[in-house]
Amino acid sequence: MGIVVDQQKCHKDGLCALDCPIGIITMDGPDGLPAPVEGFDELCIDCGHCVAVCPHEALSQGGITPRQCLPLDAPGLSPEQLAQLLKGRRSIRRYKDQPLEQSTIARLLDMARYAPSGHNVQPVKWLVISGRDKLMPLAGIVADWMRYVIKEEPEVAATMHLDHAVAVWDSGEDRILRGAPHVVVAYGEAEDTRVPVPCALALGYLELAAYSLGLGACWAGYLNRAANDFPPMAKALGLPEGMAPFGALMLGVPKYHHQRIPPRKPLEVTWR
Ligand SMILES: Cc1cc2nc3c(=O)[nH]c(=O)nc-3n(C[C@H](O)[C@H](O)[C@H](O)COP(=O)(O)O)c2cc1C
Repeated sequence: MGIVVDQQKCHKDGLCALDCPIGIITMDGPDGLPAPVEGFDELCIDCGHCVAVCPHEALSQGGITPRQCLPLDAPGLSPEQLAQLLKGRRSIRRYKDQPLEQSTIARLLDMARYAPSGHNVQPVKWLVISGRDKLMPLAGIVADWMRYVIKEEPEVAATMHLDHAVAVWDSGEDRILRGAPHVVVAYGEAEDTRVPVPCALALGYLELAAYSLGLGACWAGYLNRAANDFPPMAKALGLPEGMAPFGALMLGVPKYHHQRIPPRKPLEVTWR
């Protein structure tokens, strides 16, 4: 599909060429205008940088036109506000008995889809499971997985304190999915090595997005582990053939609010 340059608008400043991550735009077109190199269409990753960086709305790439892009003036948050958001987010483990509107979850996922992915492959797909009637049985299968690990791999079970987790579950308390009204699973092609990191990043974005809206989230690590290691859990999730989960978040309205930011380990940095 190449690039389309509006000759009237183009200032020939070369920003599109300079910002292209693959280096497939030259300023060697007619009259010094930007032009795609040979093989552009095969190499282009559709990241939209060439369109986004042009101050003059002079360039479109593939299906991406300047008008299709959202406006961007400034990051919108001061560094102090962003630091407060990043440091103030906590894992939420007590939820109100109050489901979220589907449109609210869609709004969060819309923010999460801007997380980066290698080669801009955007491989993350989502499964949203809502309602305690669906989530309690899933938590029960996680408990079954825990019992299985305790029996078959006791050393592994010990590192995760699974005997304690099962005892709590058996006492009638859900510390597996924490009473959350929703669980959101990020999944993608099981064998594609480009999938796990973007899934983790998108979930990280989602957690922060939830916090920014006054909502709460918590990684459902046990559920994700069971979904990968325990066939009954994989069956219950019912992802399409060839897909695997790469992380999951509980989601809902927090019952309590944290009043302060607890300290974290000091930075460990090697400066070279
Ligand atoms: C991959 C991953 C899996 C996690 N799994 C669980 C879990 O199954 N249950 C839970 O209550 N918290 C889980 N957590 C939350 C961590 O315990 C939490 O992030 C950590 O204690 C720090 O607390 P904070 O998130 O409030 O800063 C998980 C976090 C990550 C990153």
